[in-house]
Amino acid sequence: MPILKAGERHTVTLTLNGRPATGYAESRTLLSDFIRHELGATGTHVGCEHGVCGACTVRVDGKAVRSCLTLAVQAAGCQVETVEGLAPRGTLSILQEAFKRHHAVQCGYCTPGILMSLTHYLETNPEATEMQLREVIGGHLCRCTGYTQIVAAAVDVATRLREAARKP
Ligand code: FES
Ligand code: FES
Repeated sequence: MPILKAGERHTVTLTLNGRPATGYAESRTLLSDFIRHELGATGTHVGCEHGVCGACTVRVDGKAVRSCLTLAVQAAGCQVETVEGLAPRGTLSILQEAFKRHHAVQCGYCTPGILMSLTHYLETNPEATEMQLREVIGGHLCRCTGYTQIVAAAVDVATRLREAARKP
């Protein structure tokens, strides 16, 4: 990336949920703001803006990251996945279905970030235990649900994935 004067903007091209996307970002622009304001993908929420609440979690090149702690220019050329990518053709993912079934959403502010973290964890740890899933969920603040339903949804998916993997 070239060195720019204050206020000048970089052209940032990345892949957003499988499609090429280009926008403009100052050197200091956060990935969360870039995704929402420049690319118009407002499913990613912003809460604390300092890495605590987890609402802004997205995946960058397959890893779950806090987009409020990532600069937009750091994601140039990367594969970025947001909550919109979980249901590309309007069909909910297995985790989203479980959230619906277990009433794991109230205001929904925390939900996109939790979905992205759990999706990542369950993909990379299909044998996840309840304690492990609680650890992942513990990285997110939810002020509404009391967490019980969120844990139930995550455990439900882990159980289904485990059973599916064991089918001959
Ligand atoms: S907005 Fe990024 S962790 Fe809270
Ligand atoms: S559902 Fe409201 S913050 Fe989690």
